[in-house]
Amino acid sequence: MTKALMARLDRLLANLGYGSRKDVQALISGGKVVLDGNILKDVGTKVAVTADLPQRMMIRDRPVDPPAPLVLIMHKPLGVVCSHKEDGERIYGLLPKRWQIRDPGLSTVGRLDKDTSGLILITDDGDYLHRVISPRRHVPKTYLATLDRPLKGSEGSLFSSGELMLEGEEKPLLPAELAVIDPHHARLTITEGRYHQVRRMFAAAGNHVVELHRESVGGLVLPEDLEPGQHRILSAAEAEKVFGDE
Ligand code: URA
Repeated sequence: MTKALMARLDRLLANLGYGSRKDVQALISGGKVVLDGNILKDVGTKVAVTADLPQRMMIRDRPVDPPAPLVLIMHKPLGVVCSHKEDGERIYGLLPKRWQIRDPGLSTVGRLDKDTSGLILITDDGDYLHRVISPRRHVPKTYLATLDRPLKGSEGSLFSSGELMLEGEEKPLLPAELAVIDPHHARLTITEGRYHQVRRMFAAAGNHVVELHRESVGGLVLPEDLEPGQHRILSAAEAEKVFGDE
């Protein structure tokens, strides 16, 4: 069994975004922090940082936020950007205020364009993030594309050929799978994450994507009841579903 990480209470709460070290010290000395039913008054108390902390610790009578590592699934709405730097409304603004100032900070696992909706993972776990986006793992990602022009019928073989070269690139794309739904809708599963990949693939086939929505990443499917802008915390086992049965 791995040993639980121990953290000083004031540092733990500051890292979870409950305020500056001074703010959280005031919170603690004010008797607002309760662990296993006991009020903690010593800011230096060492606390075992375990996933069940929200069931054991209350802050101002509410469960403490979950500690790192945290993995969230979000239904990204249209119009928000995944970058921390890009101009425009950022996806992080859809999270609770405290979560936006946690340390370690939260980042999206890869990116979706501003004009793409659907499943996006958000995490503070760098190892998990790199495992998902690693080019060696080929995690499949499935997109529902709405197309401007009717499909010709030749796109499936072009995309699965392993020979499609996108403009400005030096390596052809790995084979991708196309499932045509009707002349203007198709599901495309890719195992890479090149810049604007799906839009550029359809552009290479002489078409134009007018709507793009990501339905799944590996074995994780966007839940139907997760509305645009909503998120949910994943358990460790759920987060691993991305890797299927590997
Ligand atoms: N491909 C795109 O073109 N856009 C995305 O957001 C994701 C994949």
